[in-house]
Amino acid sequence: MAIQRTFSIIKPDATKRNLTGAINAKLEAAGLRIVAQKRIHLSKAQAGVFYAVHKERPFYDELCEFMASEPIVVQVLEGEDAIAKNREVMGATNPAEAAEGTIRKEFALSIGENSVHGSDAEDTAKEEIAYFFSGLELVG
Ligand code: TYD
Repeated sequence: MAIQRTFSIIKPDATKRNLTGAINAKLEAAGLRIVAQKRIHLSKAQAGVFYAVHKERPFYDELCEFMASEPIVVQVLEGEDAIAKNREVMGATNPAEAAEGTIRKEFALSIGENSVHGSDAEDTAKEEIAYFFSGLELVG
């Protein structure tokens, strides 16, 4: 598998509890290199654009509210098979179903407040990286 890049977010529930470093330690231990990172505070409208794919789902409004409730840390991760590797270290969407040792098992509070986001495919990774970062900010 070639070197890939994926997009990651440390969500409001985690930044609020000072878990950025603990989550980064897990990402790095999994072999993912943080090649770009910044702390930002999204508006609800910006969160809505990011999660537009879910706009017909019943949880959309609450999800956008939550993503705009506190600062987040947006990241680009690089490594072998980075998209799948990051999904693996994140764990299942619902922390009750997440495997031992995953970020969501250890830190997530609920299916909504689940600490991290990670792109699910190459095309979404590209789009999500481009939404938050310019080429100059990616330092491989
Ligand atoms: P999804 O893309 O299905 O999960 P993942 O983050 O694992 O890729 O959903 C996006 C986010 O929407 C999810 O991280 C949390 C929120 N969400 C809910 O609040 N309730 C739900 O029932 C689902 C499926 C998702």
